[in-house]
This record gives sequence, structure tokens and C-alpha cells, in this order.
Amino acid sequence: MTISTELANTIVDPRAYADGDRVDQAFAWLRQNAPLEQAQPEGFDPFWVVTRHADILEVERQNELFHNGDRSTVLTTIEADQKVRAMMGGSPHLVRSLVQMDNPDHLAYRRLTQGWFMPQNLRKLEDRIREIATGFLDRMAAQGGSCDFARDVAFLYPLHVIMEVIGVPETDEPRMLKLTQELFGSADPELNRTGTETYDAQTGVDTIQSVVMDFMMYFNAMTEDRRKTPREDLATVIANGEVHGQPLGHLEAMSYYIIAATAGHDTTSSTTAAALWAMAENPEQFEKVKADRSLIPGLIEESIRWATPVKHFMRTATDDAELAGKKIAKGDWLFLSYPSGNRDETVFEDPFKFRVDRTPNKHVAFGYGAHVCLGQHLARMEMRILWEEFFKRVASVEMAGEPKRMAASFVCGPKSVPIRFTLN
Ligand code: HEM
Repeated sequence: MTISTELANTIVDPRAYADGDRVDQAFAWLRQNAPLEQAQPEGFDPFWVVTRHADILEVERQNELFHNGDRSTVLTTIEADQKVRAMMGGSPHLVRSLVQMDNPDHLAYRRLTQGWFMPQNLRKLEDRIREIATGFLDRMAAQGGSCDFARDVAFLYPLHVIMEVIGVPETDEPRMLKLTQELFGSADPELNRTGTETYDAQTGVDTIQSVVMDFMMYFNAMTEDRRKTPREDLATVIANGEVHGQPLGHLEAMSYYIIAATAGHDTTSSTTAAALWAMAENPEQFEKVKADRSLIPGLIEESIRWATPVKHFMRTATDDAELAGKKIAKGDWLFLSYPSGNRDETVFEDPFKFRVDRTPNKHVAFGYGAHVCLGQHLARMEMRILWEEFFKRVASVEMAGEPKRMAASFVCGPKSVPIRFTLN
């Protein structure tokens, strides 16, 4: 059985993710009727759609059998893939971050910053992050009872944290936010560089490439600076680090900065904005946390599951394999649907309900295995501090207009969450 073209087109359509329901319904149908099948949307090579929680874990657990680097790690059309390979000397990737690597490079490059992102190291940032969170919430409070929580708080707070961590000055934050939104929002006319919804593969690749080049120019200058004058920041670690006894390759170093400067805030912002949207629509969940702050970790896990800002990653089989009774051939491409795994009815009771006291909550929003999100502890810490301070100040929230989601099939979340609020 192959997935119908209509359904295949839906799960790759950025607009279906902006809609929310359309993509949820498509995956719910697939989990029930075709949990692991091949799809071939128009213009794409065929790929396996992995919809179940258990199968996603199974693929991610076997990182030698299912590689990241052999084909594009992000869903891409045949035409766009050809353009990238022509530009990159045969490689299917415009960047080479941890996400595009396999062993031995993956392990070596990950070791470079792994310690930095561990909870014991992050603890020293607690007070500074609280100061940053408090600043944004004080500004929100001063807005007189209404704001766009996505634009005024959720986009800006994790951005400020990660930019301080990397060592990017505050004056450059608007530029970093814009570049990130142009990259992840490349199919969204309100966010991308061209202002159009549909474009041919050449324009698409050229646009993304120009955003990547802007990032690279910026971080190239930063590398030179940190080699001359090392500081206590992540840029210094990347600029002066060694892998396999050598300085990082240029593309690899640039890609390290880019992943931190994009995935390092956009995902956390989306989750924070989605959490407030969910609480405004489910006031009893808001009241529960307000009455019992020990539920904040539960609120965080549930909002990460609920938002699942990373919509997919691709893997490539390095050998013939069997998965859930299906024969996967060497070279096959697999689409891991994290939002689908996080709505799997066999793992989550009432998966379409937002419940801050959901236990256990073994979501796959951070991935799993060797590539599991490097920034997961930082993301959780930022959200914990924000909600601790938020519930000290805010007495009630409600929606004050139509919230909007970004149109993207890779990384996305809410782009506008207008709310009204009262303070304690
Ligand atoms: C990888 C999600 C925040 C940096 C990933 C992956 C996912 C993910 C799904 C791929 C995992 C896999 O392939 O198994 C999220 C979510 C976040 C978040 C949902 C927030 C709620 C962050 C932050 C950083 C970060 C704050 C900070 C720099 C990375 C890096 C990787 C990664 C470097 C690549 C890891 C590797 O391939 O070894 N993230 N992320 N992420 N994330 Fe995050």
C-alpha cells in the first residue's frame, strides 16, 4: 500500500501545519490505517512516513542503520535537492551541523559543546536568565492588560538568552530573529524574503542560501574576533575548539553557530507561545498551575508535546532493514513525524487534550538517541524560570483575537497569540 497522493501532499504542505487540524487529521488517519507506508507527494522522491511513537524511537535508536547525513535531513523536492547538490559539490546539505553528521564526526563535534549544555553547567546561568525573564514580564505588565504574547514575549525572551550564551550583542538580536524567521518561515509569505507563497525550486534554494550566507558572514567575523580575544561565551568555544586534533572545518563551524542561533530560540519560543495559547483556551489548566506551582514541570512537558515545534527530520537506511514488519531497502528515505508520535493514541490518553498534569509524558519532541536535542536542558530551564515568574504576576489570561500559526513543514509554531490579562 502507498499513501494516497492527496494525503502525501497534505503532510508536506506548509499550509496544513499553519491550519493545525488538517495535519493532525492526516496523521491520525495514517496512525490508524497506514502507520508505516511509503508516500510520494508531487515533485518528491518517495519516502517512508513513520507516524507511530514506538517506530520513531526504533529508528532513532539505530543511528548507524539510519543515517542523518547521506541524504537531506529535511524534506526537500527533487528539483531543490538537485540545486543544492550542484551548489555544494554533490552534498545534499547547505550546512553541516550536528544534524547532518554521522559518526565519527557527529560524536566528536557533539563532544565539543555537550558539557556546556548539561544541567550542572547551566545552573550558573539561573540568576541571569531569571533577570532576563523578569525584564520581559515587567514590560508585558506595563502594556496595560493586553499584548501579543508571541511577538512581545515568547519570540524575544529565548532569543535574548541564546544570543547572550553565544555572545551576540543585543543590538544584533532583531537581525538574528529576522534571519531565523526567514529561514524557518521560507514558505510563509509573511516571514520569508520574497513575500510569496509559492516559488520554484531555484528561487527557494537561492532564498534559503542567501539567508545562510548572511548568517555565515556574521559569524565569520565573530570567529575572527574570538580567536583574537577569547571570552566566556559559546562563540569562543566554537572559534577555538578542536575536533580530531584540528580546528573545526569552516562550514562545520559556521553551521554550529547557525544551529545554535536558530534552533536555539525559535523552538523554545514556539513552545512558550503555544503553552499560553493552550492555557488561555483551557482556563482550568491555567488555574491548576496557578494554584499549585509544582505543576510547572508538567506544564512544560505538556507544552513541548502540544507544540512539537520540530515537525520532522529525515533519515536514510544504510542497509536493508525491517521496521514494524515492513521491508526497508538500503538507501530508502524515512520521514520521522514528531507531531504524530506525540499524538499517538497508544501512548497518550486523550492525546488531543492539553493536560498540565499528564503523567507519564514521554513525548518525542526532543527526538531520541544519539541526536537527541542538545539544548533540551536549556529549553526546559528557560521555560521553568519564565513560568515561575509569570505565575507570580499574572492572575488571568484570555484570548483577545485570532491566534495564527506559521506556514512551515519543518520547524514552526504560533506567530501571533493576542491575549488580554489581569495582574495579581
Ligand atoms: C536537535 C527539538 C531547543 C539545539 C533537536 C532535534 C529536535 C529538537 C527534535 C533532533 C533530535 C533527533 O534527531 O533525534 C527541540 C525543541 C526545543 C529545542 C522541541 C525547544 C522546546 C533547543 C535549544 C538549543 C537546541 C534551546 C540550543 C542550542 C539543538 C542542536 C541539535 C538539536 C544543536 C542537534 C543535535 C544533534 O544532531 O546531535 N532539537 N530543540 N535545541 N537541538 Fe533542539
